[in-house]
Amino acid sequence: MKILAIESSCDETAAAVVEDGVKILSNVVASSAEMNKKWGGVVPEVAAREQLKSIIPVLSESLSPFTSVFSPHNAYKSVIEKHIDAIAITVGPGLIGSLLMGVESAKTIAMITEKPIIPVNHVLAHMYANFIDNQPTFPAISLVVSGGHTELFLMQSPKKLKWLGGTIDDAAGEAFDKTARLLGFGSGGGVTIQEKAKELRMKNYELRLPRPLIHEDALNFSFSGLKTAIQREWKKEHHESVEVFAHEVQEAITDVLVAKTTKAAEKYDVKSILISGGVAANLKLREKFSNHDSRFTIYAPPIQLCTDNAVSIASCAHFRGSPADWHTIQADPGLSVEVYTL
Ligand code: KG4
Ligand code: ZN
Repeated sequence: MKILAIESSCDETAAAVVEDGVKILSNVVASSAEMNKKWGGVVPEVAAREQLKSIIPVLSESLSPFTSVFSPHNAYKSVIEKHIDAIAITVGPGLIGSLLMGVESAKTIAMITEKPIIPVNHVLAHMYANFIDNQPTFPAISLVVSGGHTELFLMQSPKKLKWLGGTIDDAAGEAFDKTARLLGFGSGGGVTIQEKAKELRMKNYELRLPRPLIHEDALNFSFSGLKTAIQREWKKEHHESVEVFAHEVQEAITDVLVAKTTKAAEKYDVKSILISGGVAANLKLREKFSNHDSRFTIYAPPIQLCTDNAVSIASCAHFRGSPADWHTIQADPGLSVEVYTL
């Protein structure tokens, strides 16, 4: 079964075709990162306008492997009718203006082509990037760690999920993003912290940031205190170098993520750990997970499938989605991630 998926929840416009939830036939992502640089971050109205500009060209490109006459302005009704079995669409959570662009486009396609349409939760979808060309073993603990979310799930099978806990304030990605801004890296986010941290040559420094909730049994996270601590230290007259700050914040965030996820894995006696979401692209986090504990098999998607994409949306639709009447599908910016389908 071939699913055409559309993702437009924030500042990426993405479309992909995935076969049986595991095989990528096409994968296109347009990002408004350049716009974000100009404005110092994601501005919802700007992101929505960029979505509007990108959606048709991105859709066209995602369908180009199925036709010999490619045009960026062609919506390819007949190509969809012939090659695609269902449409998957991110309905939330996310920015309302951005979500609407994808949702209304997907509904229009479903109406015109009479294909089934499957609504998908963006946060849950992240974890299905681990199913591409792979078969994770179950039960598993799934950590979804992105710009807006830090959530732990127990996964009994690709379909059976139970939310275990999440952040009570800022997400891990948000902590990376706010630190990046504070250290003068603008809207560059976590990847700029990762690169600056790599430049640190000395191993011993004095700066010690908190590891919030690391010793608590509850499967919750809290990252807003970290930002306050960084602000306080950075304002000191003789503060340490920017490389030290980048290194230590990355250490603090990744220590907490690894410790809490391992705690959950022990508690539920699982076989594997799946990590996903933009922060799962962090090389230090990946290294710590792989070196940490041989009791659990660690799954992490390829870097380009950690950040927002439509491949994960298609895969999630395949493994746990159900088609809905297109009339009833609506963008839902506050869609909850607290699922209990065990
Ligand atoms: O999943 P994603 O693309 O969007 C959301 O759903 O939020 O995640 C974006 C987040 C941002 O906070 C970004 O700074 C973070 O992922 N991120 C990273 C890295 N690459 C992206 N954080 C740390 N290290 C990275 N290499
Ligand atoms: Zn995301």
